[in-house]
Amino acid sequence: MFIRNFMVSYAMIVRNLTTDQPALLAFKHQIIDPQNILANSWTTNNSVCNWVGVSCAAKHPRVGVLDLFNMGLTGTIPPQLGNLSFLVSRNLSHNNFHDHFPRELGRLSRLKLIDLSFNFLNGEIPSWFGRLDKVLHLNLRNNNLTGVIPPSIANLSNLENLDLNHNLIHGNIPHEISKFLNLKILRLASNQLSGSIPAVIYNISSLRMISVASNNLFGSLPKHICRHLPNLEALYLDGNEFSGQIPSIGECKNLQGLQLSTHRSMAAFQGISEV
Ligand SMILES: *[C@@H]1O[C@H](CO)[C@@H](O)[C@H](O)[C@H]1NC(C)=O
Ligand SMILES: *[C@@H]1O[C@H](CO)[C@@H](O)[C@H](O)[C@H]1NC(C)=O
Ligand SMILES: *[C@@H]1O[C@H](CO)[C@@H](O)[C@H](O)[C@H]1NC(C)=O
Ligand SMILES: *[C@@H]1O[C@H](CO)[C@@H](O)[C@H](O)[C@H]1NC(C)=O
Ligand SMILES: *[C@@H]1O[C@H](CO)[C@@H](O)[C@H](O)[C@H]1NC(C)=O
Ligand SMILES: *[C@@H]1O[C@H](CO)[C@@H](O)[C@H](O)[C@H]1NC(C)=O
Repeated sequence: MFIRNFMVSYAMIVRNLTTDQPALLAFKHQIIDPQNILANSWTTNNSVCNWVGVSCAAKHPRVGVLDLFNMGLTGTIPPQLGNLSFLVSRNLSHNNFHDHFPRELGRLSRLKLIDLSFNFLNGEIPSWFGRLDKVLHLNLRNNNLTGVIPPSIANLSNLENLDLNHNLIHGNIPHEISKFLNLKILRLASNQLSGSIPAVIYNISSLRMISVASNNLFGSLPKHICRHLPNLEALYLDGNEFSGQIPSIGECKNLQGLQLSTHRSMAAFQGISEV
């Protein structure tokens, strides 16, 4: 027993920044960095925690945050990122990352924030995203993601903000979405989703925004939508094939943005600018 405990703590001591540095250097060598931002900063004569875009956790000498947005980085997302096991936040938005998500990223079980928006990622949203069950904020908008929304995403039970806008995702909105008890913002607009909105969505009373505009959705909406969703501030449904009665919007005390038209250009009234 003593020996086993000793081995465990020994392993924890060894896995310090000497684990993260080679992972980040491998990342640097695998991508094109046109502005030489990483070339000048990510060097071994400088501690990893001082590298551009890198922050270390206060408690452990390990990389906690990787903020490399809008740097013109080009390439695939290197699997070595999966070795940054203390990473809680990863923002690689507004770059030129393409191709698939490496499955090694499924090991980053401490992640709370993932922003890979505005890249050129393709392939499906892998089912191993379900392992990242601490994620609060998942933004994959404006990529070329295909396939369906994997039901395993229901495992992300802490999720507050899900943005999949502007991809090529098809299939139904999964019923498993009902597991998102803290979801505030749901953006699925400009995809190829079909079927009706699962009624379980109207049980997520934390919801403040639902944007499903420009898909192939149909069916009717509940008349008393805001009795179910009292916090609703924005509801964007335009560019679909919904039918039936228009909900009693007068009950929606917090509503600021509403789009119901069949065609986007006929948007009725909009208080919140971004769909
Ligand atoms: C990391 O661990 C290695 C091996 O135990 C050790 O030599 C090194 O000094 C440690 N580095 C830091 C920054 O703690
Ligand atoms: C990443 O971790 C794996 C073990 O999980 C190890 O074999 C590999 O060498 C590491 N790669 C880098 C670049 O640190
Ligand atoms: C580290 O070395 C690089 C050249 O390899 C140099 O440009 C840079 O200024 C050095 N940084 C520090 C903190 O000494
Ligand atoms: C990621 O960085 C972009 C660019 O600065 C910023 O707009 C966005 O809010 C960040 N994402 C998150 C989730 O904080
Ligand atoms: C998506 O793919 C199409 C055609 O394959 C391409 O023209 C477009 O630029 C891609 N968009 C993104 C955001 O990757
Ligand atoms: C869901 O999360 C649990 C841990 O909370 C994990 O054991 C399980 O493998 C995850 N399921 C999927 C489908 O990823």
